[in-house]
Amino acid sequence: MRTIKGRALSYAIVCALTACALVASLLLKRIIEPNFFLPFTAVVLIASWFYGRWAGLLSTLLGAIVVDFFFMNHRYVLGFTSWTDAARLVTFVCSALLVTFLVDQLRRSKLELTATLSSIGDAVVVVDCPGNIVFLNPVAEAMLGVPLQEARRKPLTQVLQLTDEYTGAPIETPIRQILTEGISFQSSTHKLLTSKHGHATSIEESAAPIRNGHGRISGAIFVFRDTTSRRQVQDQVTQSQKMEAIGRLAGGVAGDFNNLLTVITGYSEMLRSEMSAGNPLRRFAEEILAAAERAAGLTRQLLAFSRGQTGQTKLIDLNSALASMETMLGRLMGENIEVVFMPGPGIGKVKVDTAQLEQALVNLAMNSRDAMPKGGRFTIETVDAEINGDQAAKRPGMKPGHYVMIVVSDTGTGMDAETRAHLFEPFFTTKGRGKGSGLGLSIVYGIVQQSRGSINVYSEPGAGTIFEIYLPREKDTGLLPLPPTLAGKKRGSETILIADDEDGVRKLVHAVLATNGYTVMETKDGREALSVFEANRAKIDMIVTDVVMPHMNGLELGDRLHSLSPKAKVLYISGYRDATIGATEQERERIFLHKPFTPDALLSKVRDILDSPSSVD
Ligand SMILES: Nc1ncnc2c1ncn2[C@@H]1O[C@H](COP(=O)(O)OP(=O)(O)OP(=O)(O)O)[C@@H](O)[C@H]1O
Ligand SMILES: [Mg+2]
Repeated sequence: MRTIKGRALSYAIVCALTACALVASLLLKRIIEPNFFLPFTAVVLIASWFYGRWAGLLSTLLGAIVVDFFFMNHRYVLGFTSWTDAARLVTFVCSALLVTFLVDQLRRSKLELTATLSSIGDAVVVVDCPGNIVFLNPVAEAMLGVPLQEARRKPLTQVLQLTDEYTGAPIETPIRQILTEGISFQSSTHKLLTSKHGHATSIEESAAPIRNGHGRISGAIFVFRDTTSRRQVQDQVTQSQKMEAIGRLAGGVAGDFNNLLTVITGYSEMLRSEMSAGNPLRRFAEEILAAAERAAGLTRQLLAFSRGQTGQTKLIDLNSALASMETMLGRLMGENIEVVFMPGPGIGKVKVDTAQLEQALVNLAMNSRDAMPKGGRFTIETVDAEINGDQAAKRPGMKPGHYVMIVVSDTGTGMDAETRAHLFEPFFTTKGRGKGSGLGLSIVYGIVQQSRGSINVYSEPGAGTIFEIYLPREKDTGLLPLPPTLAGKKRGSETILIADDEDGVRKLVHAVLATNGYTVMETKDGREALSVFEANRAKIDMIVTDVVMPHMNGLELGDRLHSLSPKAKVLYISGYRDATIGATEQERERIFLHKPFTPDALLSKVRDILDSPSSVD
């Protein structure tokens, strides 16, 4: 709809053009006589082409008046005195009306065509026979980064930059064959179209020649479809199907493997208990047990990934649960890394297993720590998130609805596309043999899936990493208070000595205990633990020891400690149950903690043992 101002301007231009035509007719009077109306017909044509029907009609009326007034026999009077004049005037008016009508029709169909092409969601580029651009729709203008005015008459090959998405090699569009041989073309490879400003779009290309009424090629039309979001959805679906399949495989293998491990552990434990402490073969049985313990750890992690483990879900206030982990994470990350917690306002409640949530965050934190060897910032944010149908369609397995999002980010090394593509797969690691098991994130993935949530990663090399975890928001019944966290009655101020050869476990135990008020001493094996204990006997209130360690194992350490100080309180941690710990089943339950354990379980156990009169059997 043209504005009133626009209309008034077009009518003023029509008046001005008529005045010009009058001047031209007066100047060229001798040459064009008796066809004075020719310049006025030209005005009608211009007016109706540029400004439409009403401008054409106005120019017809003005032209008729001016011709009658200035160029008929009875000069400078309106009306006519001869039939010849009348016939001339009528001829002018009729031909002007015809021009107005036809030109207006042509103009309308051109506008309609332009509007149609402009409304198409794909980029449309039209070129003429020599291959120069004659039309770009707005999508094409945006994709190429050039407005139509700038691109018009330029060769398409000059404006269009296509590259192979995988190799990065430049690609030429077959414009010559289309224009000369008249072939249609549909690309099968994935291409990147780079705009003038360097923005790349993943596209599908198709092109066809334009033929005129005689079947002759008058140009070509190119259509570029942005496939970025479709590809993203496809990639997500493929990724989730792949994870599903790996999950099933891992779950199956882990289940069967666990049965075999039970047999291996059972018989080697029997072997060991049959052998006296001095038997040189006892060491072999212990080695088998240690290997089985590691294998059991792996299968537990695989099961966690494949959703074989069911946690005890509770309705919790996410912000409070995360806040209670903040200090522990801070210690885990070390001094060089700043831990920032940004709880979002009005975050809803979620139903999760707190122990699993803790495990997921610890795994993410450890990865971030590894990615920031020179220090940096580790941030945990919470935000309420509303997922609509469109957004859910892009995340397979996710339903539209209310979610709470935990955003875990770091300023570390970041990841390349290859790492991002395999990140959640079990045993995928870039950390080299013996350094990473590659199970950390697969466990996080399993936990999130089990909580009916979803996890996304955004990362680029050198630009840090962001993990977004969506957990379904539960209706707030207002019934449940905060979960019992690491605070409160499980805290203490005693001094605890840790003996564990596994760095990860030792650091975790240290972080959990120190966060809850304890003074902690760390040692890497039984022998070292014993000498530290001897030197600080008065200070140390309790020892937390792994059972299987080099040099001196946990059981031997326990025995030596008790002989040094019969009231020494010892907590044994291990991946398998050792029959020789504790005199009775009850006693064993009290002083033994099965790996993997949660910080909460560790704190409870430590407090119980410390509060009991003595752990000596
Ligand atoms: N925050 C991060 N920054 C950079 N790379 C990361 C980050 N998190 C994960 N990665 C990459 O993903 C890989 C897989 O991580 P995952 O936690 O599953 O295994 P891992 O850390 O290698 O071993 P594990 O956690 O079992 O000790 C890592 O080896 C690393 O390359
Ligand atoms: Mg890890």
